[in-house]
Amino acid sequence: MPRATKRKKPVTFEDTSLLKAKPAAFKKKTAQIIRRYHVLNKEVEKTSDPDKISELKNEMEKLGGLELYQRASVLGASKTRGGDTSKWLVQELAKIGIPDEVKTNITLLDIGALSSENYKKQSAWIKTTSIDLNPRDSNIIKQDFLEMEAPNKDSNRFNIVCLSLVVNFVGDPLKRGIMIAKTRDFLLPSGYLFFVVPLPCVTNSRYLNHEYLQEFMANLGFQQVSCHFAKKLAYYLFRLGKPAKTIQEKFHRKNLVNDGPGRNNFSMTLP
Ligand SMILES: C[S@@+](CC[C@H](N)C(=O)[O-])C[C@H]1O[C@@H](n2cnc3c(N)ncnc32)[C@H](O)[C@@H]1O
Repeated sequence: MPRATKRKKPVTFEDTSLLKAKPAAFKKKTAQIIRRYHVLNKEVEKTSDPDKISELKNEMEKLGGLELYQRASVLGASKTRGGDTSKWLVQELAKIGIPDEVKTNITLLDIGALSSENYKKQSAWIKTTSIDLNPRDSNIIKQDFLEMEAPNKDSNRFNIVCLSLVVNFVGDPLKRGIMIAKTRDFLLPSGYLFFVVPLPCVTNSRYLNHEYLQEFMANLGFQQVSCHFAKKLAYYLFRLGKPAKTIQEKFHRKNLVNDGPGRNNFSMTLP
């Protein structure tokens, strides 16, 4: 007699056992949710078939939607990374030594903010504007950065723009590049871009590595100030200078930089 196949239950936070799970099981499940969400996001970007899009969006909703993804990210950050990424940025700012004229009044745009309190301890000297597609608290503005109107004067621009674990959320390589390029319109001259991606995006991708990222960013006018590879994440601080006159031809498409099995396909391109 054929054995009844046990249907795998989707991993969601409605499954309350997840919240009681042991650290290792918890880590695995939050990582599963985040990974699946990223895959679905990528699939949505790849198709123009409305039926396929609605099927994928249905699966995202069944999973718990963006809300669930964000909860998984918050819990994942606190339990597996030891906190939010802002700590590294604050530490780097202290190392750089901020000029006196801006020292008490650094403006920061936090794109894709899960919490408006990331820079709360530094609120005496960092004034944060937080935006997200799905704000989790009332101090975060509901705004898609890709649709956000750029400031038309420096008084509305920022000393720092943060893209921490946001570019890898975007499913389409071109939109990733556009997102990074767009930060320049929001930065003051010589402003800083804080950029964080999961480590495998730069250490195990067929289409991106540390050197390629440097070239890509330099073409946009960003020079690396510092960088740190932690166990799970790659942290970068870039400073905005002069962009190249034109976008290098090669950045209009993805380029193979690391071949071999077991690699991921994370890539970024420019228009
Ligand atoms: C993994 S969370 C990152 C959270 C946080 N920045 C961190 O470092 O832990 C990604 C967040 O980016 C937001 N996001 C993605 N694309 C966005 C966009 N185009 N504009 C604004 N927020 C966006 C998502 O809604 C989600 O809350």
